[in-house]
Amino acid sequence: MFKVLRKKIYNQYVFELEIEAPLIAREAKAGQFCILIPKEKGERLPFTIADFDRKKGTITFIIQVVGKSTQMMYDEEYDFIPDILGPLGTPSKIEKKNNVLFLSGGLGIAASYPIMKAYKEMGSKIISVVGFRNKSLVFWEDKLKDISDEIIITTDDGSYGLKGNVVSVVDQIFKKYNIDKVYSIGSLKMMKASVDAIKKYGVEIIVSLNPIMVDGIGMCGACRVVLDGKIHYACIEGPDFDGYKVDLDDLILRSNQFAKEEGACLRDYLLNRGNRR
Ligand SMILES: Cc1cc2nc3c(=O)[nH]c(=O)nc-3n(C[C@H](O)[C@H](O)[C@H](O)COP(=O)(O)OP(=O)(O)OC[C@H]3O[C@@H](n4cnc5c(N)ncnc54)[C@H](O)[C@@H]3O)c2cc1C
Ligand code: FES
Repeated sequence: MFKVLRKKIYNQYVFELEIEAPLIAREAKAGQFCILIPKEKGERLPFTIADFDRKKGTITFIIQVVGKSTQMMYDEEYDFIPDILGPLGTPSKIEKKNNVLFLSGGLGIAASYPIMKAYKEMGSKIISVVGFRNKSLVFWEDKLKDISDEIIITTDDGSYGLKGNVVSVVDQIFKKYNIDKVYSIGSLKMMKASVDAIKKYGVEIIVSLNPIMVDGIGMCGACRVVLDGKIHYACIEGPDFDGYKVDLDDLILRSNQFAKEEGACLRDYLLNRGNRR
């Protein structure tokens, strides 16, 4: 049982959970995630560790409502999460770089933030571009301002910050800074557009992939992604991958295929198959 210390609602889709989990907080590194089982015999839900505090022994998740379980977690009051498995995944590779650019789309902030923190601790300059659909969806602005040397907020409809998306300011940033490394974390389409925009500068770009996951430990094969024509498993080898190597078109195609009910069916199928073994 893991005690929920704080639940904060940001808007009609997004909320934050701060959970007491000293052992996970002690081991957590930027780029990792946990699998939460929010209810006895409930679904296994992967969420990025958006922040952790080793001294307090806490981990934080930013969660967006997309289906049944996340809606239940948003609506209901609960003091404990029955099960949390983690930290899972390969930590982000943090290396000495002068200027690191983060292109984060909406919920992508949850994965970008701990990586920014790790680079900041290494002495890097953090340039953040954060995109939302509109002003009502903006969250963690102060937290991001505190950690960023420069921050640009964009909204699709221009209701806050610059009108446009995170990719629309890439050229402007590259004119101002010698960027050494880029992280693009958000929707698959946003990450694909980022890779296309960065390619001409020849700078390394890392994307963070969240394909459907079931076990989260490399056994079921649900989270496969294609890199340079070869299959890799996002739960153990990722979520971070080289943006130039990942076949993002394949992932976009598959995520459309399993949208809505089909996504849940795939998971049910894999879970049942697991139970029959
Ligand atoms: C490594 C990893 C980290 C993640 N981190 C976060 C996070 O920090 N915050 C957050 O809000 N979500 C995160 N997700 C996505 C999150 O796990 C799903 O949104 C959640 O499991 C949906 O549960 P549900 O029962 O509410 O929705 P379901 O009813 O299962 O699905 C509803 C809709 O969401 C789609 N969906 C389900 N799982 C995923 C997925 N993995 N990726 C994309 N679409 C999905 C379905 O296809 C369907 O269209 C992460 C996923 C992975 C793999
Ligand atoms: S979730 Fe990655 S192999 Fe099962």
